[in-house]
Amino acid sequence: MTSESSCRICGDTVSEFLDFGTQPLSDAFRDPSDTTEEFSYRLAVGKCGTCAMVQLMNEVPREAMFHDDYPYVSRGSSVMREHFRSLAHGFLSTELSGDDPFIVELGSNDGTMLATVAEAGVRHLGVEPSGDVADLSAAAGVRVRKDFFEEPTALEIAETDGRADVIYAANTLCHIPYMDSILAGVRALLQPRGVFVFEDPYLGDIVERTSFDQIYDEHFFLFSAQSVDEMARRHGLELVDVERLAVHGGELRYTLALPGARQRGAAVAQFLEQERTARLGEQEVLEQFAANVHAVRDDLVALLTRLREEGHRVVGYGATAKSATVTNFCGIGPELIDFVCDTTPAKQGKLTPGSHIPVRPPEWFSDDYPPYALLFAWNHAEEIMAKEQAFRDAGGSWILYVPTVRVV
Ligand code: SAM
Ligand code: TMP
Repeated sequence: MTSESSCRICGDTVSEFLDFGTQPLSDAFRDPSDTTEEFSYRLAVGKCGTCAMVQLMNEVPREAMFHDDYPYVSRGSSVMREHFRSLAHGFLSTELSGDDPFIVELGSNDGTMLATVAEAGVRHLGVEPSGDVADLSAAAGVRVRKDFFEEPTALEIAETDGRADVIYAANTLCHIPYMDSILAGVRALLQPRGVFVFEDPYLGDIVERTSFDQIYDEHFFLFSAQSVDEMARRHGLELVDVERLAVHGGELRYTLALPGARQRGAAVAQFLEQERTARLGEQEVLEQFAANVHAVRDDLVALLTRLREEGHRVVGYGATAKSATVTNFCGIGPELIDFVCDTTPAKQGKLTPGSHIPVRPPEWFSDDYPPYALLFAWNHAEEIMAKEQAFRDAGGSWILYVPTVRVV
């Protein structure tokens, strides 16, 4: 069954191209004693025929996802800690090097990025609705407002703190359906020559790598240079730069400014041209992507079923939000995977959403290596494989499913 919805950017028709069926909240790790019914919704994705924005067909209420028990912390990866430290230093030596600069971060989470700015003594504010992670950032010396960023929040910040030289968001903007309010807020809060910089998973990489697990409740938009360019224009901003990032399985970093405030970098035209050549936004390409997703699902289920029939133990590595789509779409539960190990304290001892696989600390993995580990945190593969070299040395093999299912 396919459906249509209204585009959250331009109001025109969004046509569905891929349906994952009923899904739980991707970050709602469940207490084993909890017998209440789990929240569920239909996860399906479509594309707007007018502005090309790829987006979910259904919205999950924001309070159901972002609250005082939100389990994701940025500091869980050493690669991401370094990524944010180096970005902060970049801002400090450029956009934040003037007289009394000010930066606002949306979705500042545990303060991993802003801690470097705070250490430098530069004026900053994190806006973070999830109370638990906001508290972690405050403990790290970061000034934080526990709130959802939207237009009224932006107006209040502009009133009390003045306008910002930089507004920044990592892995957050794509989480927010109410984009008209966000971008009105950005326009109100930005200095005339300020920049709005955000980075999120890239549609081009998702399609090319069949990384369908980037699609879940929190990832409302799958951005591309083309759709962000359109979005900026329709909301009184201009896309002035695009940069490719290797983190999180492939992202783009976009820089927006008020129209005419900044020179447009050559990279914008290059990305737009590249996407045109790849026919990224075209229905046929998206339908081929959907077919590839089904093929990966079939291959993964066949492999795990065979390993189980042969009597092999398989554990999961990384209880990612992404893996909720994989386990629930593929029907992978504790009968195929014994447990998933994860470093995040708030996830340990819980069950994965919907699929109910126990989450255990990493020692459960290293104390008794299984022959196979399914790498759900494939976006951190280099870091994890280096850290877990002893697993390979003990004869263990990794199972990967991006871009295709294979054992390495
Ligand atoms: N920026 C961090 C990073 O890249 O590691 C955290 C990303 S986390 C996946 C998304 C964050 O966005 C969560 O901490 C969530 O609470 C926050 N968030 C969701 N809606 C928001 C909004 N309207 N304004 C500000 N933050 C929001
Ligand atoms: P992410 O892909 O959304 O960043 O989530 C990664 C998850 O994997 C998060 O729950 C932390 C976990 N993780 C580990 O358990 N060990 C690791 O070495 C890394 C990098 C992440």
